[in-house]
Amino acid sequence: MTFEPFDRAVRAAFVGLGRIYDLNMRAYVDNPDVEVVALVDPSEERRTQRQRDWPDARTFASVNELAASGVEVDAVEALLPIPLHVDGVSELLSHGWHVNLQKPMCNDLDDARRLLDAAGAADRQLRVMENYIFYQPLVRLKEIVDSGAIGEVSGYHMKMVASGLGGWDVPASSYEWQFKQMRKGRGILVFDDGWHKLATAVWLFGPIREVRAWVGGTEVVPGIEIDAPSTLVWEHDNGIRGVWDITLAPNMYLRSDYYTNDERWEVTGRRGYARVNRCTGRGIQQPSLEVYADGVMHSHHALDDDWASSFRDSGRHWLRWLHTGEGPMLWSGAEAVSVLRFALAAYASSEAGGIGVNPASLG
Ligand SMILES: NC(=O)c1ccc[n+]([C@@H]2O[C@H](COP(=O)([O-])OP(=O)(O)OC[C@H]3O[C@@H](n4cnc5c(N)ncnc54)[C@H](O)[C@@H]3O)[C@@H](O)[C@H]2O)c1
Repeated sequence: MTFEPFDRAVRAAFVGLGRIYDLNMRAYVDNPDVEVVALVDPSEERRTQRQRDWPDARTFASVNELAASGVEVDAVEALLPIPLHVDGVSELLSHGWHVNLQKPMCNDLDDARRLLDAAGAADRQLRVMENYIFYQPLVRLKEIVDSGAIGEVSGYHMKMVASGLGGWDVPASSYEWQFKQMRKGRGILVFDDGWHKLATAVWLFGPIREVRAWVGGTEVVPGIEIDAPSTLVWEHDNGIRGVWDITLAPNMYLRSDYYTNDERWEVTGRRGYARVNRCTGRGIQQPSLEVYADGVMHSHHALDDDWASSFRDSGRHWLRWLHTGEGPMLWSGAEAVSVLRFALAAYASSEAGGIGVNPASLG
């Protein structure tokens, strides 16, 4: 694919103005790399609400209307419900627009190929936005691990408790498409939120050669099952093993400005460990990053550990790259496929009783 950075501010459109727009838009505020020219959502209420952020942008009820309007667009922030990703993003690319797509990119490898082919055919960039790898405590954790400060890495452990009380409001319409995903076997914890957790493993330790998983379910309301308890274990090509355990605490209150996930990331090395104590929610009231080595604990008290800042920084990275070519661009569509393969290997393993599955072996 050919790509020439723009030598002027990128003209951008938001397509989908729902819940996560509130965080994605932060990358666009006071950013000379970009000019927001259009807002698209079938909901008039959303268009009116978001127009206040960008009074000079034109609003449209559909992508077709935007395409026919004559408004010139270079790149799109695609904030669509997951079931619309494949058709919706193929359409955006076909108009000649670069796309920053939310995760999960799609549900299976056939759809991933369709998306990459659509980007190739249009000669446009398809980025799959990963904000966790821009979350400052995790970025610092990676630097510390890479520096050798905790010694050679022995293992990686992630924990997530999905709690049912606290956080921001999620519109009922979002649950409708999430339930659709769950009925297709793509749960909100392992697949949707899990995308981020699996991405951190690939980002930290590279390709994965074997995944074993036990995906469970808990009925929370009649007919609706949340995909926990679930446990995933895996081994990277470099021999490092990881484990991620997911539990559900429906009656637990968690203070959060966003979703109510109590999360932990811990890398153990031969001399010590580095642990991120929280991310999306405000669970443990300790420094967000702690590093222990040689009998001494270092606590990081001044990191920007607001989860929303990871959206700002991930989005800015993309816009800067489009404008100037400064990179490397994280993550490309192809890199995102490695995360998809990881998730699909976990499902294949669980369905087969927990056997080891090589993500590369999936067709
Ligand atoms: N990075 C993260 O941590 C994170 C967190 C939450 C959601 N997400 C992702 O963001 C995306 C959107 O999630 P959300 O929570 O904002 O959902 P949402 O349901 O709140 O918003 C989706 C919006 O898209 C609009 N829409 C529907 N069809 C459309 C169409 N054809 N064209 C334009 N707009 C259309 C809806 O009216 C709605 O306003 C999903 O892919 C989700 O997985 C990512």
